[in-house]
Amino acid sequence: MDSLKQVLEANRAWSERMRAGDPGFFERLVQAQRPELLWIGCSDSRLPPDQIVGRLPGEIFVHRNVGNVVVHTDLNCLSVLQYGIEVLQVKHVIVCGHYGCGGVRAAASPEPLGLIDNWLRHVRDVHVAHRAELEAIADPVARENRLCELNVVAQVANVCHTTIVQDAWRRGQPLAVHAWIYDLADGLVRDLGLSIESAAQISQEYRVG
Ligand code: CO
Repeated sequence: MDSLKQVLEANRAWSERMRAGDPGFFERLVQAQRPELLWIGCSDSRLPPDQIVGRLPGEIFVHRNVGNVVVHTDLNCLSVLQYGIEVLQVKHVIVCGHYGCGGVRAAASPEPLGLIDNWLRHVRDVHVAHRAELEAIADPVARENRLCELNVVAQVANVCHTTIVQDAWRRGQPLAVHAWIYDLADGLVRDLGLSIESAAQISQEYRVG
């Protein structure tokens, strides 16, 4: 484990490398950020969004929490969505989960972890909602992986059910919400093939306005 001194030295070296490669890089970023992507991902240290998709600072607006959960009363996540969509005018919202997610595993287990069990209740609800499909999968790793995918799909729906996203669509703002999942084993992101770009694609019960 690096000491904090080493961490700060690494930052200095990174800053120098960036300046050497592009002398105007930081000066441009000071002016404004114009990210086209809004990333909602897990807090897990093994999937830093910018690095795994080869983006530079300024290219992805990010919200992370344990289990990449989108809760319709979470002021933190909603604020990121609202600012990203209405002010920064991002074109894509990506919910990216990952296989081997400790939060998802905990949500499917009876073992208590503490306060976080309350947060992970949202993932447990996904588990309960898809109990039949999940119980039909014999291999425990495959079953957990499927829950990781179903959680991403559920959170994409939660993004689309917000008034923020639906207001954007009503204004005619181009905005697509995507379901991706990252595999820790090979460093690859898989597109789960779900892209929602209009209110017509969401359940009637959740349409507002
Ligand atoms: Co995780």
